[in-house]
Amino acid sequence: MANEADMMALRIAEKRRAADDIEFFELRHPDGAELPEFTAGAHVSLIVPNGELRKYSLCNDPEERDRYCIAVKREAGGRGGSVSLIDNAKISDEIMVSAPRNDFALATAPQYLFIAGGIGITPILSMIRQIRSSGLGRFKLFYLSRSAATTAFLDELKAPEFRGMVTIHHDEGDPNNSLDLWPVLEKPGAAHLYCCGPRGLMQAVRDMTGHWSSARIHFEDFTPPGAMTKPEDKPFTVKLARSGETYEVPVGKTILEVLRDHGHAVPSSCESGTCGSCRTKLLEGEPDHRDLVLADYEKTENIMVCVSRAISDELVLDL
Ligand code: FES
Repeated sequence: MANEADMMALRIAEKRRAADDIEFFELRHPDGAELPEFTAGAHVSLIVPNGELRKYSLCNDPEERDRYCIAVKREAGGRGGSVSLIDNAKISDEIMVSAPRNDFALATAPQYLFIAGGIGITPILSMIRQIRSSGLGRFKLFYLSRSAATTAFLDELKAPEFRGMVTIHHDEGDPNNSLDLWPVLEKPGAAHLYCCGPRGLMQAVRDMTGHWSSARIHFEDFTPPGAMTKPEDKPFTVKLARSGETYEVPVGKTILEVLRDHGHAVPSSCESGTCGSCRTKLLEGEPDHRDLVLADYEKTENIMVCVSRAISDELVLDL
């Protein structure tokens, strides 16, 4: 997580509508200086006008050192960060921005399969730009959205240069019109899969890729831990096998947060169950897995403590 000491003031050089409820922002250094470099799939954290910190994927080509580009979906029913940024930030305003960080980096592979849902296109657009400019490998993109009007970067992705590589599908809000991804995912081949979009889409893709190597599947999700709570959540305890310490994990807190509160430094990064860095050995108990990392065969002996909870009253961790 970015902290204010690491942040720089950048100027909003451009702000324009990219689609219904999606706004494009271009951020530049006020003096025109080069910005810290980034790799495709990276994100930055911004302090939005209402004072909250929000993460946004960079969507421009990493070769560009003079600007960061983001596209922001206005989440009217969200926590207010995107609404504040879209409604209150203006061209020429300065905004605090972290250095880029990447939990969704592009692996070296002969082929890439990209699945983007809605605004989840942003990190994937940066990847496609990098692949195109560096000749890294071949790719196919499946870009799923509600309608043409709600789809950002549509003209760019419909360009003749992407013919045969990009499939754009609109479901017009009807789940019966969803694109069947099974034919695409049935045979893993040598591709690395990158998926970013609504949690339901990513979960569906994860469910269809149990036969893929986990190392070749990558997800990006900025859903805050608090938004992953379910009505059936209940408190439970975690026991640390090596020290015998036992802590209660209340509703609304993650195992990771509880461990941190008690001074245990478990590696973590995304805190959304997608990057794999908080994998912890599970010794006893019945987990409620909520991550997109673990393959089925890994689930009895591992848990991602940033999002997963317990069905049993206690989990025993190898800590
Ligand atoms: S911190 Fe990324 S999966 Fe838990």
